[in-house]
Amino acid sequence: MPNKAATAASRLSVAPMMDWTDRHCRVFHRKISRSALLYTEMVTAPALVRGGALHLLDHSPEEHPVALQLGGSDPDELAQAAKLGQDAGYDEINLNVGCPSDRVQSGTFGAVLMKDPGLVAECCAAMIGAVSVPVTVKCRIGVDDQSPEVVLPEFLSRVGAAGVSRFIIHARKAWLQGLSPKENRDIPPLDYDLVLRMNGLFPGLELSVNGGITSLDQAAGFLDKGLDGVMIGRAAYHQPYDILARADQRFFGGDAAPARSEVARAMLPYIDAHLAAGGKLAQVTRHMLGLFAGQPGARHWRRMLSENAHLPGAGPALIEAALSEVEAHRAA
Ligand SMILES: Cc1cc2nc3c(=O)[nH]c(=O)nc-3n(C[C@H](O)[C@H](O)[C@H](O)COP(=O)(O)O)c2cc1C
Repeated sequence: MPNKAATAASRLSVAPMMDWTDRHCRVFHRKISRSALLYTEMVTAPALVRGGALHLLDHSPEEHPVALQLGGSDPDELAQAAKLGQDAGYDEINLNVGCPSDRVQSGTFGAVLMKDPGLVAECCAAMIGAVSVPVTVKCRIGVDDQSPEVVLPEFLSRVGAAGVSRFIIHARKAWLQGLSPKENRDIPPLDYDLVLRMNGLFPGLELSVNGGITSLDQAAGFLDKGLDGVMIGRAAYHQPYDILARADQRFFGGDAAPARSEVARAMLPYIDAHLAAGGKLAQVTRHMLGLFAGQPGARHWRRMLSENAHLPGAGPALIEAALSEVEAHRAA
C-alpha cells in the first residue's frame, strides 16, 4: 500500500531541494537507505497543468517510497497536479509552504502562504479530494513579523481540519524580503521547542521537524521526544553516508547500508542505463561527491569525479578509477 509506505518512511526523510534532489540524487540516496522517505525537488502545479511539463514527474521505480513536492496556490490546479503525481506513481503529495524565494513569491506560493491558512486549507482539501495517497504540508513556523506562537497553531489547526494529518515544520521563520533563500536557511534562529510544543498541542497530527539537523543522533533525539519524523536536507546531501547508512537499522528495523565503495558500484547499472539513454555521467556523479565525506581519500574521490565526469566518453570506468584512488589513500 503506497499510503502506508510513505507514512512509515516519514520517520526519516531527505528534504526537497531544488537542483539537488533530482531523480539521480534520489536513486543514489536509495542505494544507501532502503526505507527513508525521499522528496522530489519542488515542481510547480502551473508547470504540470498549464505547461504540460509531465517529464518533471519522471522517476525510477527503485526510488520508492518517494514524495512529490508541489508548489502552487490555486486549489483546482493543485488538485489536478496532485492527481498527475499520483498517476505517475508517487507515494505522497506534499505542498510547499516554506520556500521564500522571489520567483516563488511572485506566483503566490511557498512561505508567503503561511499568511493565508484558509487558502492553504482550501488547496489541501482540493488535493485530498483528488488523490488517495497522503497529502502533506511542509511549512515554516511563520513569516516576517508574524508571531510563531500564534500563527503556527492556527495554521496547523486550520489545515489539519482540511484533512492534512502530516506536517513537516522547518523550525525557523521565513523572511520574505531582505534575505536570499540561502541566507534564510540559516537565519533567523531555529525554534525546535515550538515544534515540540505543537506536538503536545496536536496529538492527532503527525509532525516532523526540519532545519539544522546534522546527525542521526540528533534525529533520534527528536524521535525520542515524541516527534513522528525528522527531515534532513543539506547534511543528507553533503554527507549522505553519515546520515543515511545507519538509518534503516536505527529507525526502520532494517540492515545497515553496504560499504561506501559498494554503494558507488551499485550505481553502475543505473549509470549505464542513463548513458545509454543519452545522459551524461556528471548528471549522476555530481550528487555522489560527498559519498566519502570525512573519510581518507575523500578529496581524491571528489576531485576525480568533478574534474573528469563531464569529459566526453566518461563512464563507469571513472567510478572504478576514483574508487581505486580512494583505496590507495586508505591503505597509505
Ligand atoms: C539547494 C536547496 C534547495 C531547496 N529547495 C527546496 C524546495 O524545492 N522545496 C522546499 O520545500 N524546500 C527547499 N529547500 C529547503 C530544504 O528543504 C530545508 O527545509 C532546509 O534546507 C532546512 O533543512 P536543513 O537544515 O536540513 O538543510 C531547499 C534547500 C536547499 C539547500
